Amino acid sequence: MSIAEILDTMEYGPAPESDKEARAWIKGLGGETRLFIGGAWKKAKSGESFETTSPSSGEVLTRLAQANAADVDAAVKAAAKAQPGWAALPGHVRARYLYAIARLIQRHSRLFAVVETLDNGKPIRETRDIDIPLVARHFYHHAGWAQLMDDELADKEPIGVCGQIIPWNFPLLMLAWKIAPAIALGNTVVLKPAEYTSLTALLFAEICQKAGLPEGVVNIITGDGTTGEAIVNHPGVAKIAFTGSTEVGRRIREATAGSGKSLTLELGGKSPFIVFDDADLDAAVEGVVDAIWFNQGQVCCAGSRLLVQESVQDRFTAKLIARMETLRVGDPLDKAIDIGAIVHPVQLARIRELVDVGVREGAVLHQPKAGVPAKGCFYPPTLLTGVHPAATVSRVEIFGPVLVATTFRTPAEAVELANNTEYGLAASIWSETLSLALDIAPKLKCGVVWVNGTNMFDAGVGFGGYKESGYGREGGREGLAAYCKPKWLAKAKPIAAVPAVEPNGDVVSTGFIDRTAKLYVGGKQARPDGGYSRPIVSPSGALVGEVGDGNRKDIRNAVEAARKATGWATTAEHSRAQILYYIAENLDARAGEFADRLAAMTGKRKQDTAREVAASVSRLFSYGAWADKFEGAVHKPPLRGVALAMNEPLGILGIACPEEHGLLGFVSTFAPAIAMGNRVVVLPSSRQALAATDFYQVLETSDVPDGVVNIVTGDRDALALELAKHEEVDGIWYFGGRDAAAKIEKASTGNLKQVWTETVQRDWYDARQGEGREFLSRAVQVKNIWVPYGE
Ligand code: NAI
Repeated sequence: MSIAEILDTMEYGPAPESDKEARAWIKGLGGETRLFIGGAWKKAKSGESFETTSPSSGEVLTRLAQANAADVDAAVKAAAKAQPGWAALPGHVRARYLYAIARLIQRHSRLFAVVETLDNGKPIRETRDIDIPLVARHFYHHAGWAQLMDDELADKEPIGVCGQIIPWNFPLLMLAWKIAPAIALGNTVVLKPAEYTSLTALLFAEICQKAGLPEGVVNIITGDGTTGEAIVNHPGVAKIAFTGSTEVGRRIREATAGSGKSLTLELGGKSPFIVFDDADLDAAVEGVVDAIWFNQGQVCCAGSRLLVQESVQDRFTAKLIARMETLRVGDPLDKAIDIGAIVHPVQLARIRELVDVGVREGAVLHQPKAGVPAKGCFYPPTLLTGVHPAATVSRVEIFGPVLVATTFRTPAEAVELANNTEYGLAASIWSETLSLALDIAPKLKCGVVWVNGTNMFDAGVGFGGYKESGYGREGGREGLAAYCKPKWLAKAKPIAAVPAVEPNGDVVSTGFIDRTAKLYVGGKQARPDGGYSRPIVSPSGALVGEVGDGNRKDIRNAVEAARKATGWATTAEHSRAQILYYIAENLDARAGEFADRLAAMTGKRKQDTAREVAASVSRLFSYGAWADKFEGAVHKPPLRGVALAMNEPLGILGIACPEEHGLLGFVSTFAPAIAMGNRVVVLPSSRQALAATDFYQVLETSDVPDGVVNIVTGDRDALALELAKHEEVDGIWYFGGRDAAAKIEKASTGNLKQVWTETVQRDWYDARQGEGREFLSRAVQVKNIWVPYGE
């Protein structure tokens, strides 16, 4: 056979990687693994274990200990014991541990790669060249953050014990994404790997021992979903970080509601891969290979929906089908293999079933002629063409090597199709016209966009979703937020419920015209749907005024008005700043009236309420200042190119203002939200609601576009719950009591909206607590747009 023929057929011989060392290491585990708790190897208290198999052969590799709630308790206690000492170490000392771990991972990289391939079924080429190098990079990068924490995060401290639950598709890499930032910032962890792929986590525990990591800083426990649940429910865990299915993510959101645990979720996706007619089609075909056949398509951000511009569809599909014929499926330890094994027969069955559904619903199936090995868990690279955007396979995450293709005509249609999913993890855009690609990127509702590339990851670049793909970021400076909290929180007192005061029949005159204040919806004053009003009384019970008693319908109307005000998100930052200054100016012009109103509602002295008005004016100026200065970043990952970290608004934000400081609490929460381009539905303090209803006259005279700020008065907590349930609300901020916060968190599960509930008192006058980056970063989600360059 000539070389040309060999290249044509790709009929070259096998190039197997030796698994001798890896098997020796697995044998050394003794047939049944232990749990790594408090720096020591412990037997599972239940005495139970389960098999872990190699997907490419079905052979049992070993048995994994099944940790139960008592083991989880022991691990959390070990982590809690270690945490204060670990956090108290100088950043430099923590940095050296992370650095040592990174070095040790590099030194053992081949062993890690082979064990991962045996256990997961992914090609050795990927574990060797992608997974393990990225793992080391994560520890190096975060060693740097440990070193810099004291300066760069001077007002922050660690959260405490972090419970971390990871999936099977990138076992060691997901471990690194979770553990590196957590321990860098002084937290300790209890991590549970996925039941199919726990081996490299145990090898990692050995590395921690070799690095001399203080006992209890990292605890690794194996087990199934019940072990995960025990971590989620353990009261000693302060934070849960989860990567996995959206279904389990929802369950965890519900389970943690009201617990005070902070939560980040990295869930599923159905990411679009958009090919414009001016794309380099050959490069885009290689892009598809990386997008959907990398790791057998078992990638949360896999480019699983191919959207091709109609004019190049035939050419592109022909090239793609030809390329599929050259992909080699087989033994993942073979260095010349492109596609390895599916992780487990359960997943294989699911892929088969979904492809069958796709074909039944009218898709055309394309698979290479070569087929797949008869033995083991394999599935061929698959393309489904002629797929309707509403078809099951267009909507459901298949989590396998299956690409569904559809076409579009115009860039606007591409955006519409791309966003037509409840997920929002990633997207790829292929076009030689950079201005087109960079115009499309901000329009896509997802956390990562790759321009002329796909599946690029780096420790210095944040990764995470929009919408039902979850919240929180992993990697980069933006990822650190999940593992630290403001220092002042530790001393903050819970918000206490204040008993309602009944009207006593007296009336206070405040100079305002005597009428019931309406709601403010879509730039207009609106009567409450129910036609009822609520009295606002002074602390002694004298009537100060009346406000509308809003209900669910009013909330719906307000959200609808906010939905229509889409232009605000793309209004230039400079213009938003001008409007905030204008609001401040108009408030200042009426400072005396507001101070009187506040004095009447609170019984405070006029000089105190005048101070509140002045602080509110200043706060509006602050957010006018911030509007064009909270800018995002340009990351420099190790490639020729950049990743642009853009701060984008969440969308529609529901805000339940603090009960205290009717004006300052109102301004301090809605102003950062609109400064960042969100549209808001604001629920003012129930007791001091007149401060907000008086304010809409200020808004009306300040050029705020209709629908950007909507104000609904009434029973604040009940209305907040309505907002939490609303599917078109993207985020909710709630400042109040624990019971209501728990209900709001639970109700947010539907569309997995971002929730910020704060049940402790803040000093709203103190600029460090009452304004600034904390609020701004809660008002945005970071989108990373990767722009590789070169000829
Ligand atoms: P899964 O979400 O059930 O498992 C992920 C992790 O969560 C595992 O460690 C598991 O033990 C744990 N877990 C399961 N139930 C739990 C509970 N109630 N509380 C706490 N932890 C729990 O994912 P699974 O079943 O392995 O895969 C099913 C589907 O999920 C896949 O077909 C795919 O569509 C999706 N998936 C998405 C991933 C992603 O990276 N976005 C990763 C893995 C799966």
